[in-house]
Amino acid sequence: MLQVKTASIALRATARNVTASRILAASMSTVTEVKKITVIGSGLMGAGVVQVAAQSGYHVNMVDLKEDFLAKGEKIITSSLKRVAKKKYADDAAGSQKFIDDVMSRITLSTNSEKAAAESQLVIEAIVENLKTKQALFKALDAAAPQETIFVSNTSSLPIGDIASATSRLDRFAGLHFFNPVPQMKLVEIIRTAETSEDVFHTLATVTKKMGKVPVACKDTPGFIVNRLLVPYMMESLRLVERGDASMQDVDVAMKLGAGYPMGPFELMDYVGLDTIKFITEGWYKSGKGLVGDKLIAPSPLLERLVAEGNFGRKSGKGFYSYEGVGADKGKK
Ligand code: CAA
Ligand code: NAD
Repeated sequence: MLQVKTASIALRATARNVTASRILAASMSTVTEVKKITVIGSGLMGAGVVQVAAQSGYHVNMVDLKEDFLAKGEKIITSSLKRVAKKKYADDAAGSQKFIDDVMSRITLSTNSEKAAAESQLVIEAIVENLKTKQALFKALDAAAPQETIFVSNTSSLPIGDIASATSRLDRFAGLHFFNPVPQMKLVEIIRTAETSEDVFHTLATVTKKMGKVPVACKDTPGFIVNRLLVPYMMESLRLVERGDASMQDVDVAMKLGAGYPMGPFELMDYVGLDTIKFITEGWYKSGKGLVGDKLIAPSPLLERLVAEGNFGRKSGKGFYSYEGVGADKGKK
């Protein structure tokens, strides 16, 4: 695989990309040239990552277990691309269609994860949040892909080191945490374990920058940066309402108008998925490094009830609020 020596990569020193500059400006670091990316999982996050990768010029394999799931992922991408094209080519229908066709032409659909990984320099995993399932996938990919291929997981809450332990490439394994909605959220967290190589770290910073994202670095600790702060905040908002201190509507209004957040905590939990929030907090409460039994993330009866009823938020049509429409584009009723 081609390795390219880079001198310091010049970036505009605006406040927003200071961190990116610091990450990328390491002098004379080695980066791996990435031409083809495989994204495994074509759900909410995987489809978003496929879209931004293809939009930035990468050839991308989008992999899922069944054709039906791939078709759903394709639908998420085309509807998001239409939103992007509408802004980019406001009065130019032909230009808009060409933009969409060009991006889609760089995406190959597949149900064969091993074959897809074997022809890629970077594999991004965005499948179900389950340690054993992720380990089984990476074990199979490890046997199929060249030793140089970089593996990353988009996990929200699982230790990267535990996922990587199923492979023989600890130095070429990292976390790459995108945010929902991927096309819109600028941040990506790059999670380094003690074994992740400098080459891998700088390659991921280069690739995410090319995708138009701002990378930040974090050690392999529960929740990395954003979820470590965001999830306890969500749990505190649940407790505030459970105590009867305020209504969930007023909490949402308060945090939007008083703290400048784009969504209140209940709207955001519905957006992320209530099952996901429950899964993350349960895992940390039981075995999160430094978080076991922490009251910040103790179970919430209100969250437990909604999840038990199958009300997962936007994706199921009902959570704290009710929604209508399809998938990620569902609107609040
Ligand atoms: N594809 C393309 N563009 C999209 C999009 C998508 N899926 N979703 C939103 N957009 C664009 C819209 O086109 C619009 O663009 P312009 O402003 O240029 O016109 C812009 O985003 C705003 O969208 P809307 O007007 O439809 O709605 P909004 O103003 O309410 O913004 C939002 C929607 C971007 C989701 C905003 O509410 C927001 O930022 N919410 C917070 C999201 C957040 O915190 N995400 C992180 C969750 S935590 C996580 O992801 C980590 C984890 O591990 C769980
Ligand atoms: P999702 O349920 O929307 O999509 C997961 C997809 O993976 C499904 O299409 C499923 O069929 C597929 N899949 C499952 N096992 C597979 C396998 N062995 N091989 C190929 N495909 C497989 O989930 P999501 O919300 O996109 O989350 C994916 C990952 O991203 C999770 O680790 C999650 O924690 C993380 N994440 C989620 C969010 C969020 O807000 N939802 C944000 C950041 C990170």
